[in-house]
Amino acid sequence: MQVGQPSRTAMAVARARAHHQVVDEPRVFTDPLALQIIGESGSQASEFDNGLDQDLARRRRLFIAARSRFADDTVADGIARGAGQVVILGAGLDTTAYRNTHEDVRFFEVDHPDTQEWKRRRLSETGIAIPSSLTFAPIDFEQSTLADGLAEAGLDRARSAVFIWLGVVMYLTRASVEDTLRYIAGHGGSAEVVFDYLYPVSSTLHDPAAGQQQARADRVAAVGEPWLSFFTADEIRGNLLSFGFDRVEDRSATQLLATYGIRTTARPMNSGPHLIHAGTA
Ligand SMILES: C[S@@+](CC[C@H](N)C(=O)[O-])C[C@H]1O[C@@H](n2cnc3c(N)ncnc32)[C@H](O)[C@@H]1O
Repeated sequence: MQVGQPSRTAMAVARARAHHQVVDEPRVFTDPLALQIIGESGSQASEFDNGLDQDLARRRRLFIAARSRFADDTVADGIARGAGQVVILGAGLDTTAYRNTHEDVRFFEVDHPDTQEWKRRRLSETGIAIPSSLTFAPIDFEQSTLADGLAEAGLDRARSAVFIWLGVVMYLTRASVEDTLRYIAGHGGSAEVVFDYLYPVSSTLHDPAAGQQQARADRVAAVGEPWLSFFTADEIRGNLLSFGFDRVEDRSATQLLATYGIRTTARPMNSGPHLIHAGTA
């Protein structure tokens, strides 16, 4: 991230969700605030997709929509099973907390201070009210610990929580990703987490989408948000189990999209983004 600037990729994925509301049929993820929070018509595609293969850009937009749908469903299931807290890590322009209808559930939004300040301005400018159930926790994952920041924000470590961490892991160092996963695994009440990660670009060289993934990597790096962490499915599963998670489900983009009845022309492959759903007992 560039010092003093909000995340450009946060705006890009928010645009992808807004674009999804307008152009994709069937719609995987419905978000009545997706257009309002960006203050645009939703006709604009992500700045990082310009000039890239349109089928891959569509597939990526659908993945972004599907990971949010999966997160929404996980939050709803968690609340139904008694989770009283939801933590959105690296929240960007995520709208989960503003769509919540459960008054007794506490939400926490963690984000880089520069992005969070920008989001708060956007909420005010676009007329989206901040619910009393939401607490903001400005934290730079690379500079301060989640434990200190969330303790200060009032997260109850003894009460069950759902952690949502979408589109963030690849922008952090491996050490910071592992510290965060250890922190979640050590939550006193039961915890579950949904997050996505990227396969190493080099391991996808046989794949026709690899060149496009590298092009996107170059573009986000050029705006100061380089991808820093990559994992294989075996690595991330091994890490999660060693940190104390008991259940780990891993879905490739193709598998996730198939869950929602979306078939793409891309052939099934391990590379690109994957979505994890992991939990402690
Ligand atoms: C691609 S955006 C994803 C935003 C949101 N989760 C979503 O899906 O819309 C990446 C997010 O990671 C956050 N981020 C990147 N590096 C960070 C850091 N070192 N500390 C805290 N947040 C960071 C950015 O501020 C941004 O909100």
